[in-house]
Amino acid sequence: MSALLKVERLSGGYEPVQIFKDVDLEVEHGACAGLFGPNGHGKTTLLRTISGLIDPWSGNILFDGVQLNTPGERRTRRSRNLNYDILVRRRMDPKKVARAGLIHVAQGSPLFPELTVAETLSIAPAAARGGGRPSDPELPFTLFPQLKERRQSKARFLSGGERQMLAIACGMLAAPRLLILDEPTLGLSPKLRLELADAVHAIRGAGVPIILVDQDVGFLRDLVDKLHVFDHGSISRVLPRADIPDHETLMADLFGKAH
Ligand SMILES: Nc1ncnc2c1ncn2[C@@H]1O[C@H](COP(=O)(O)OP(=O)(O)OP(=O)(O)O)[C@@H](O)[C@H]1O
Ligand SMILES: [Mg+2]
Repeated sequence: MSALLKVERLSGGYEPVQIFKDVDLEVEHGACAGLFGPNGHGKTTLLRTISGLIDPWSGNILFDGVQLNTPGERRTRRSRNLNYDILVRRRMDPKKVARAGLIHVAQGSPLFPELTVAETLSIAPAAARGGGRPSDPELPFTLFPQLKERRQSKARFLSGGERQMLAIACGMLAAPRLLILDEPTLGLSPKLRLELADAVHAIRGAGVPIILVDQDVGFLRDLVDKLHVFDHGSISRVLPRADIPDHETLMADLFGKAH
């Protein structure tokens, strides 16, 4: 069976600065793909490009056999004094990506601060409408019982952990066919990290494939089928779960003993 998500030789960044180059990434149906890499190496930029929030510079993104990006093309642009070639970038439409079921839970869980938990959850399915199986409206509270007690609280009064839970719950209510979780454990206590790992297991159990980003190899090791090591803007190795070393060993491998 072919992969659900297939990213081919994808390059991109923030004009004029290139952040990542020639990235190949595949996520199989039902799988959890881990993306590990140090701060600022371009993980979020790559994921924002895959979900169409930034235009790719080159390469292709195929989701369930359908190409999400329209191909770039060269055109001649004429002005009064000169003709010059321009490259029309490969355009992406984030709405189309979300409707195809590729749902991105952004790093830092941006939410509407004045909406309550209940209000936020009520608009989540309408906001994205992924192409997957509609989720049970009670799912947020099954995944995160703590959210139930906070139903009437405005998002701006939630703790970091609760915000993260709410953002993931919204992602699940959008009926994902693939869920991107960009550093869901950022700033969480060790106890909450464990709870989050349980939630990721439960999401997998519901049959939803995941791309999971984290800066801790130990956290990813128990959850992912394959670990993609992302450094300096490219995927330098792909490790099956059985071959994933501990965090210190991998960091020492990548950057030397000082880490
Ligand atoms: N909107 C932006 N405009 C210009 N440069 C940006 C923008 N956002 C991020 N960058 C730069 O792009 C590079 C990659 O950042 P990115 O956030 O993708 O890395 P990351 O691997 O996700 O890091 P982290 O682990 O801290 O989340 C960094 O040098 C960052 O400063
Ligand atoms: Mg990031």
